[in-house]
Amino acid sequence: MEVNNGVTFVLLGGTGDLARKKLLPSLYNLYKKGKLGEFDIIGTSRHDLSREEYVRHVGVNIDKHETWDEFKENIRFAQLNFYNPEDYEVLQEKLLGCGDERLFYLATLPQHFDVINDNLSSHDLVNETSKVLYEKPFGDDLKSAKELNRSINELFPEKNIYRIDHYLDKELVANLSILRFSNSIIDPILSAEYVDHVQIIASENFGVEERGGFYDRYGAVKDFFQSHLLQLLSLVGMSTPEKLDSRCIRDEKVRALRGVDILDTITGQYEGYRGEEGVDEDSTTETLTAVRAALNRPRWQGVPFYLLTGKNLAKKYSQIYVQFDKNNQSSMSSNGTIPNSLVVSIQPDRGIYFVINTKVPGGIGTEPAKMEFCHTCHHGPNTPSAYENLFSQALAGDQRSFIRYDEIEEQWRIVDGMEIPEPITYEPGEVPEEVQNFIQDGEWHGLS
Ligand code: BG6
Repeated sequence: MEVNNGVTFVLLGGTGDLARKKLLPSLYNLYKKGKLGEFDIIGTSRHDLSREEYVRHVGVNIDKHETWDEFKENIRFAQLNFYNPEDYEVLQEKLLGCGDERLFYLATLPQHFDVINDNLSSHDLVNETSKVLYEKPFGDDLKSAKELNRSINELFPEKNIYRIDHYLDKELVANLSILRFSNSIIDPILSAEYVDHVQIIASENFGVEERGGFYDRYGAVKDFFQSHLLQLLSLVGMSTPEKLDSRCIRDEKVRALRGVDILDTITGQYEGYRGEEGVDEDSTTETLTAVRAALNRPRWQGVPFYLLTGKNLAKKYSQIYVQFDKNNQSSMSSNGTIPNSLVVSIQPDRGIYFVINTKVPGGIGTEPAKMEFCHTCHHGPNTPSAYENLFSQALAGDQRSFIRYDEIEEQWRIVDGMEIPEPITYEPGEVPEEVQNFIQDGEWHGLS
């Protein structure tokens, strides 16, 4: 049989929000940068669409250049109801003649993962070189995650399994281990001896958009806190790994997650959420959550970690803010100095900066100044998006920015143990007072 060395991307959930807004645009960007080589894309959906209709549907969000016409020639469509075994036969036929290396992307709800896995396996669609990528959330809680993982492990070898958290593929997040462990002056100051508190913020200035049905089932804690925020916490809180390789880093992340204690949680729901499409009219699902946590590791004794994620707030930005202890500063003037801080700005601005106190020229007063690494100024605005990185790394078989199952298990253990209070209602674009006052002796960095 002729061997086709190209790669085939099979998008299960091919008409969904994620496929349209992130997956197809990222594949197209990789194509424009010449990084795809020979490829085919097979989008699937339970709807009966022609190839042209599918291409039109997924092309809406794409910033098209003259290469679009070439690119779209490689897009195919297969109608596939996850629960209908015959549809997988159609997919099987479509796969003949496409690139042998297959990348299955399960861009769908976790409740469908089992039936999809069973069918991919029973139809022999997953071969030696295939990769099966699972979009988050991986399960609904610890119990379902365990069951899901057990059934996946029975069907596919671990080396073929990629559990996604796209935050790990954001450039500044992927930079965190380098920042800490390849700069000998930085890591030693990230400890209770110097740090007053840490904030991890992911604020969004839009609502649930077309994902009301999904979101209402999960809410901010399971949609965002369980995955992205806890991953960021583990990267900031982990101890120095023995080596900077994927196994040692993941081992340390798991240890950090095991030490997480949730001390306080508040939640909010934006006004109008209950009227969103797909949302229950009496829904008590939270669209915002703020958490105070401790990390029971000698390095972090007594340092509070404040985590916040929310929809329909004033701004869209994600950042890690480390505030150092004011009392440890020696300053020429006690007048007007501020505590030093380190900010890792993940998006929309990308960069890392320290805030230091400096002398006002010609006077004796002080003023704060930034010591900054501006990622965008240095590397330009077109660094790869998280999903471009994710595809590139999966193609390279690099598991570093995917999550190992024991991390997921710890993340669900934390979330399952949380008491989630009734949400406070807040106006879109505003930060509720309770959230503003959540940080003891401080305020959220950049939130209002
Ligand atoms: C997803 C969440 O994982 O991440 C969404 O399900 C959220 O609710 C999104 O909006 C944010 O990702 P990004 O990369 O667009 O900031």
